[in-house]
Amino acid sequence: MSALTNKRILIGISGGIAAYKTAELARALIKHGAEVRVCMTKAATEFITPLTLQALTGNPVSSELLDPAAEAAMGHIELARWADLIMIAPATADLIARLANGHADDLLSTICLATETPIHLAPAMNRLMWSNAATQDNCKTLSQRGYTLHGPAEGEQACGEIGAGRMLEAQDLADLVISVFDKSIFNQSIAKLPLSGKTVLITAGPTREAIDPVRYITNRSSGKMGYAIAAAAQALGATVQLVSGPVSLEAPDGVERSFIESAAQMHDKTMALANDADIFIATAAVADYSPAQVAEQKIKKDSKGQNSNQELSLKLQTNKDILSDVSHAFPRLFSVGFAAETENLIENALGKLKRKNLNMIVANQVGENKGFDRDTNQIEILWQDGQLSLPEQDKKTLAIELMTTITEHFIASSTLTSK
Ligand SMILES: Cc1cc2nc3c(=O)[nH]c(=O)nc-3n(C[C@H](O)[C@H](O)[C@H](O)COP(=O)(O)O)c2cc1C
Repeated sequence: MSALTNKRILIGISGGIAAYKTAELARALIKHGAEVRVCMTKAATEFITPLTLQALTGNPVSSELLDPAAEAAMGHIELARWADLIMIAPATADLIARLANGHADDLLSTICLATETPIHLAPAMNRLMWSNAATQDNCKTLSQRGYTLHGPAEGEQACGEIGAGRMLEAQDLADLVISVFDKSIFNQSIAKLPLSGKTVLITAGPTREAIDPVRYITNRSSGKMGYAIAAAAQALGATVQLVSGPVSLEAPDGVERSFIESAAQMHDKTMALANDADIFIATAAVADYSPAQVAEQKIKKDSKGQNSNQELSLKLQTNKDILSDVSHAFPRLFSVGFAAETENLIENALGKLKRKNLNMIVANQVGENKGFDRDTNQIEILWQDGQLSLPEQDKKTLAIELMTTITEHFIASSTLTSK
């Protein structure tokens, strides 16, 4: 059985230059077993012919709202009910604006207004159209209402400019659709992604504590686990805020990233974002200590004074505890900590769970050939009255399993508190 056998996907196409890529998307979904129907806006038919999509899908393409013949076959409400998932690719700035404002002046926007099916959008447009505050506000509105946005990617655009606005590649979009149906948690709740309308705040990567203008103290964290969790949270429908230390990773599509350097900056940024979050996941390897004083100029080897005898002492001060401060200041947040330990893993992690007022803690052994700066990891998830071991596997798969567990516990705790 293929990944999309018995799944009915409605592809929406609006009038952007990337519409030609959507033929590939239709092919990829059909190859994986899906039944595909296509609905096009009038503008989209100027970019790719309905005939091409009809030939590829084996189904008639719908584009007219006020069409008696179409209504007699599969009308707008039937199409809205038919689909298990709607993927609109490309989604133009104009269509996004119409959806955000609840318009129903063409077939595609009417279907979106008349459906309970999860709607995914792959925006594609010129980089300035994308960064325009109107488009950004419309996207935020849609994501708060449960739409899932994928991309856009950065790179060279059809208009010759370089920036964010390219539609994700057809194969990537097909993989995203497959991943939606792959996860058991989605199958339980296919009408709505489980974290739709929720915000997940994640810290990731190392911090850098300045010694002087050119030197700093840091650690071996690569940020890979935190970034994989951010992608998994986004795939579960959440709006994701990622506060990241210096790493060389691309931000997952659709995730809002704030770069910081020091533990103090990460503390301030995280506290500022926590008020709007529902789940907080602290994966960052935050420095516990930082130099009490940062030298204004580069410290010289031969400078007079304290290192004239070839020794240099650095006085360190304790940094603020981000995880503890956030979980105590925002007790309604579902807070998840990470305990990277070199010894007494479970004992130390349980101590941290209680001390820091957390809902859950993820313990992982670090040290030689374990944890940091690797593509695989092995974790223990602990909560007040339970524990789950996840075996050594690649960080992306691990992140999906971890995020699924967090989501299940978050939903259970929200149900309890709302009673
Ligand atoms: C050559 C050309 C390319 C265009 N490409 C895009 C695009 O990539 N993204 C976008 O948002 N609008 C693009 N537009 C503008 C849309 O086609 C226009 O806003 C249209 O009204 C969208 O209609 P629809 O949203 O109903 O499909 C383009 C226009 C032209 C003439």
